[in-house]
Amino acid sequence: MLRPPYKRYETLYLYAFSGCHPDLRALPDPDFIGCWEEDGLSVLFFHREKDGLPEKISQFYGLKFELSAAVPYEEWGEGRRLTPFRVGPLSLAPVWEEGSYDLRFDPGVVFGSGGHPTTRLMLDSLWELWEKAGPFTQVLDLGCGSGLLTLLAAKLGAMVTAVDRNPLCVALTKKNLEINGLSAEVLEEDVRKVIGRPVDLVLANLYKGLLLELLGLPSFQTSRYYLISGFVISMEAELREAIWGAGFEIEDRKEEEGWVCILLRNPKT
Ligand SMILES: C[S@@+](CC[C@H](N)C(=O)[O-])C[C@H]1O[C@@H](n2cnc3c(N)ncnc32)[C@H](O)[C@@H]1O
Repeated sequence: MLRPPYKRYETLYLYAFSGCHPDLRALPDPDFIGCWEEDGLSVLFFHREKDGLPEKISQFYGLKFELSAAVPYEEWGEGRRLTPFRVGPLSLAPVWEEGSYDLRFDPGVVFGSGGHPTTRLMLDSLWELWEKAGPFTQVLDLGCGSGLLTLLAAKLGAMVTAVDRNPLCVALTKKNLEINGLSAEVLEEDVRKVIGRPVDLVLANLYKGLLLELLGLPSFQTSRYYLISGFVISMEAELREAIWGAGFEIEDRKEEEGWVCILLRNPKT
């Protein structure tokens, strides 16, 4: 996350280690951006090169150094230049943009900075659904990333529960809510553990394997509407099988650059 004196991201300096340690989430270093933990790997992000860091981390925390890299921010992750954009009548912009916007966000170094087609498709679909069938009271954002979907749903007036297993996503979503004076419940958890809550809209920009698994679970089939994304056209047939198997109806479909977003309605609710 951005912390003074940094106002934006330039080059990212990454250091990857096998293993995790809670202390690495809040390193007392002014150039520290955050620690991405996934599948037993910790990736530390800095604004500057850190001489001797691999040795220090190995020595103090016993983690094995794997690799380091310097990556221009524009090339990191979604590989797109971030500029202000609109969702319906609302304007959204990264925190470093000057001017007045309805929602501002620190895109961080996690997924969901607003540049990827799936995030944009989910945001646009959420806005359209809200116009057509809203308001929604309870919204579940499964895999919140930087929290953009949560921000929009909360701005529209929903009580949102945002979930991500990546602690950096959880911290960033909380920060982005704070920046906008909004509130939501933000949980560091596996999405499998929070489905089944009584909500009227589920947002799930995840990946094919996890979507297939969720669609097959009776506990996932309790909401009225679902927006799902995170898959490409070639994966759609398999997902449609699972959608029909769950008894859902497809109400809308959007695609951009080969990525797909589908609106599902549960006729049983
Ligand atoms: C494709 S990103 C979507 C981010 C954001 N919702 C958006 O639309 O831009 C998927 C997110 O899901 C999270 N995720 C993946 N599998 C998960 C799981 N089993 N439990 C919790 N979070 C998960 C990842 O950490 C990542 O932040």
